[in-house]
Amino acid sequence: MKQMPENFLWGGAVAAHQIEGGWNEDGKGISTADVMTAGSNGVAREITDGILSEKYYPNHEAIDFYHRYKEDIQLFKELGLKAFRTSINWTRIFPNGNDEEANEAGLQFYDDLFDELLANDIEPVITLSHFEIPYNLYKEFGGFRSKEVIDCFVKYAEVVMNRYKNKVKYWMTFNEINNQADGQHELHTWTNSAILFEEGENREEIIYQAGLNELIASAKVVKLGHQINPEFQIGCMMAYVPVYPYSSNPDDQMAALKVMQRRYFYSDVHAKGEIPNYVLNEWADKGYEIDYSDEELKALKGGTVDYIGFSYYMSGTVTTLQDKGGYEIPDYKNSKWLSNPFVKASDWGWQIDPVGLRYILNVIHERYDLPLFIVENGFGAYDKVEADGSINDQYRIDYLKAHIEQLKAAVLEDGVNLLGYTPWGIIDIVSFGTGEMEKRYGMIYVDKDNQGNGTLKRSKKKSFAWYQQVINSNGEEL
Ligand code: BG6
Repeated sequence: MKQMPENFLWGGAVAAHQIEGGWNEDGKGISTADVMTAGSNGVAREITDGILSEKYYPNHEAIDFYHRYKEDIQLFKELGLKAFRTSINWTRIFPNGNDEEANEAGLQFYDDLFDELLANDIEPVITLSHFEIPYNLYKEFGGFRSKEVIDCFVKYAEVVMNRYKNKVKYWMTFNEINNQADGQHELHTWTNSAILFEEGENREEIIYQAGLNELIASAKVVKLGHQINPEFQIGCMMAYVPVYPYSSNPDDQMAALKVMQRRYFYSDVHAKGEIPNYVLNEWADKGYEIDYSDEELKALKGGTVDYIGFSYYMSGTVTTLQDKGGYEIPDYKNSKWLSNPFVKASDWGWQIDPVGLRYILNVIHERYDLPLFIVENGFGAYDKVEADGSINDQYRIDYLKAHIEQLKAAVLEDGVNLLGYTPWGIIDIVSFGTGEMEKRYGMIYVDKDNQGNGTLKRSKKKSFAWYQQVINSNGEEL
């Protein structure tokens, strides 16, 4: 019987701002995540002008991993994690983003964290920018609108890649860089690029510029990283939400293709090192004046990624049929986004589609022929703590099991080269989208509620023992 590769990285994933807390300790500066208040299911988080004393900012304390990481890593070890994905919070290293000198206390924190992981045989998988851009770079330069921020990012990456060159092998540059693709959602343009818009600005054009600036920064970092340590594996990080044609109407097929191109633009540049024609033509047709030099085009070519890291949570559907409802999207004539009637959704409306994972693994494998790494996948749900303290999260086990079955089919039947699987929020953390604590993904429960009350005590959910067995059996026992 075919088996998963011996060195397959079964792991867990988080991001610094959602887990660490210690938001103003040891010289850390304010990041984009630090000015985001708590929203709730269906209610957007507010992005405030600096820190306002009357507001609640859930990332300021998060789950206090900053002080508790040693105990948490013991739980990860017990769980059997082979890899732990987190990010370096840029503002611990360069509090303002453009400081002359790096902050030694911040560098030391990640030295200690990586040492602790390695001492417990857990491979760190590190994202350089996971929604933690220094707030000052927004104030001074308007975020990634500006070319200045490219240099700030490259300098930051050079410092940390040098410092951790013997501790970290797997890197990713910008988390879910394509979230911002249509430029319409403030949460995404803020967290991806530290960009807020003025009335009347052309959002799409600005985001194309910011996205390209990030792609250039990423390519420069990939090249530099390989010079620092040729063993480095440096990937991109994409949000893949496969969008299916709703019907067999050829226009629906084209609509799905166009919607996906907008999202693939980012991985196309990351992986192929050039701006695809479909985007160059769109810029020309719309009269967009995107600024890039020959030297930058060369940098793109010289810094293609080693692997494609991506998140997968759900799929979507698009149609040009006018009697199906849905909301309009700009990618193809008269096209609308609508729910897929064939799959169910979570309490937050995220459509659950395990087959979509196998589908996208195949599509991306064919498109780039690069190793792939599923660095996020999971089920955000309300958990109930029983009187005896147990948490019976069978729904989470069902979700993960169904997705692992599909990833195994992609590897063992379809021949996809997959490096690993790090499900999201292995320990409960602050939700990125809503700022809630009660949208939980973890196999380890954290006693804290949406208002910030709780002891922060950790306890194991039913899914803990289940995932332990999955890892122990290298994915055989689901
Ligand atoms: C991804 C992000 O979008 O999805 C994570 O990379 C995020 O930071 C995760 O937490 C789940 O989203 P949410 O909104 O449920 O926390």
